[in-house]
Amino acid sequence: MADLSTNFLGIKSPNPFWLASAPPTDKEYNVVRAFKAGWGGVVWKTLGEQGPPVVNVNGPRYGAWHSQDRRVMGFNNIELITDRPLEVNLREIKQVKRDWKDRALIVSLMVPCEENAWKSILPFVEDTEADGIELNFGCPHGMSERGMGSAVGQVPEYVEMVARWCKQYTRMPVIVKLTPNITDVRKPAEAAKRGGADAVSLINTINSIVSVDIDNMRPWPNTDGFGTHGGYCGPAVKPIALSMVSEIARAEATRGLPISGIGGVETWRDAVEYMALGCGTVQVCTAAMVYGFKVVQEMISGLSDWMDEKGYTSVDQFVGKAIPQVTDWQHLNLEYVVKAHIDQEACIKCGRCHIACEDTSHQAITNMVAGERKFEVIEEECVGCNLCAVVCPIENCITLEPVTSGVDKRTGRPVGGHRTWKEHPNNPAVHAKAAAAAE
Ligand SMILES: Cc1cc2nc3c(=O)[nH]c(=O)nc-3n(C[C@H](O)[C@H](O)[C@H](O)COP(=O)(O)O)c2cc1C
Ligand code: SF4
Ligand code: SF4
Repeated sequence: MADLSTNFLGIKSPNPFWLASAPPTDKEYNVVRAFKAGWGGVVWKTLGEQGPPVVNVNGPRYGAWHSQDRRVMGFNNIELITDRPLEVNLREIKQVKRDWKDRALIVSLMVPCEENAWKSILPFVEDTEADGIELNFGCPHGMSERGMGSAVGQVPEYVEMVARWCKQYTRMPVIVKLTPNITDVRKPAEAAKRGGADAVSLINTINSIVSVDIDNMRPWPNTDGFGTHGGYCGPAVKPIALSMVSEIARAEATRGLPISGIGGVETWRDAVEYMALGCGTVQVCTAAMVYGFKVVQEMISGLSDWMDEKGYTSVDQFVGKAIPQVTDWQHLNLEYVVKAHIDQEACIKCGRCHIACEDTSHQAITNMVAGERKFEVIEEECVGCNLCAVVCPIENCITLEPVTSGVDKRTGRPVGGHRTWKEHPNNPAVHAKAAAAAE
């Protein structure tokens, strides 16, 4: 059987599934239940500095975007960091670490962007014997208005500065949790590395308003009539997070920097996708909040079965394996040709592919053949865009098949070559280069 254990910055856990810093990791009661259910690690709900705890709204703090079958696709919150006293959290963290030595226990922190504030809290966290800290530079609401969270994460110089203080004042591994509310996520990741951080984790939540109550003309959810943007997470954000993870994994300045992947992980397959793009562990919040702690059991058995099937005996064997295949558009092979193919046995003749292609793509699918309702691809018109396969309600009924020999019936050009935009004659830069060479 495959070995699912991970060693992330020297922090060992029996599997790569960690709970992200959020309500599921808010207290000993939750974390113990999570460990009993099988989670490999947790990042404790973000602690703030000593003093009066933060105050949350008493109105609804969560909202969601549901699919038509009421599945939670996107989840939104305006919750702040922990609202429990610092000493209570620290006492519970210490106890949990004592009782669960084989699990990873990371403490998330957010204190004002001042050296003394960080210097003061770190010894208390060290005393708990937690395995590491995660710096919450991502929270996009409430705390950011007070100069913390994403207000720090959006300024690479601050990220570097705080990471450096933390490395200076603690022996614990430092993970910097990044905000996605930024144009180029590579910049804060580079800054974290410059500051000495041992790893980055991403993403925290995305600025969002999930809906507007159009009868009363106010955002929903709202507190006493007024709403504010919250942080968005859940399955809807996974594609954004995967892209950001891949950017950091590929960039020269951050290549090899350990990454903990977060955002919309619900199944073992989601986790494998993050790991294939270079994540040593994954973190989960929404799936645990929606389905409960036992979702991890499916993740563990699914990952184990998949690894056995693929012949992987340890997770290191596939971490980062998809990175070399992620590239920039300009390096894609423009001579590669595919055509849609419809499995007539599987087709239920709903007509969605025809309408999609007819109205918005390339008029390459019939709806009538010899007087009969029939959906067939017209290869002379098909550009292989994939829209029909995306809209077809039957999985794998439409597939995109590579054309490997002969000519592309649409263009009349031979297939099988390799030419990117960088070499393409329509690229003005290619002409400029040729002209310069001729001079
Ligand atoms: C209700 C709620 C509270 C959260 N609180 C924190 C927090 O205190 N600290 C933090 O770093 N991230 C916090 N997050 C963000 C999560 O840790 C995580 O980055 C995000 O939800 C994306 O993961 P997911 O798609 O699995 O939910 C919170 C998320 C939610 C939904
Ligand atoms: S791949 Fe695109 S162009 Fe080809 S049939 Fe499908 S929708 Fe039409
Ligand atoms: S969308 Fe799929 S099922 Fe519907 S007609 Fe097209 S191929 Fe058939």
